[in-house]
Amino acid sequence: MTQVPAMRIMIGSDHAGYELKEKLRNLLAESGHPVSDFGSESADPVDYPDIAARVARSVVGTQGAMGILVCGTGTGMAIAANKIPGVRAAVCSSVPVAHAARSHNDANVLALGARIISEELAAVIVRCFLETPFEGGRHARRVEKIRALESDGQR
Ligand code: RB5
Repeated sequence: MTQVPAMRIMIGSDHAGYELKEKLRNLLAESGHPVSDFGSESADPVDYPDIAARVARSVVGTQGAMGILVCGTGTGMAIAANKIPGVRAAVCSSVPVAHAARSHNDANVLALGARIISEELAAVIVRCFLETPFEGGRHARRVEKIRALESDGQR
């Protein structure tokens, strides 16, 4: 992760993602990224929506920040994080999905499944996510439509 320009990373996990979160946090810090860790602090059971909400709010409140959330599958974290306006969380289990999540969807939170992918693949996915820019253009129009859904009164 050495070539990626430093950006603030908000990271969090539940118990299932704790070990992988610790490894990714250390890797990111070694690569020069300022990292804020929102827990968990051990492999004791915690509820993933609590951690997802903390990370998601922090990403939205910090200019240019990115979030990384780790649970068993990535799914619960992404569902919870996407309830926070301004968050576009994507579950990524491969590099092509991570690339498209950034270049097409302008995702600002990466959700990973510690029970689904290896540590090695997780590190490569994180790197791809952080180094891939949003393409804009036609994708900007679509992301704008996602944003509009957040203030859509018809629920
Ligand atoms: C915890 O057992 C598990 O449900 C959680 O880590 C996550 O995979 C939920 O989506």
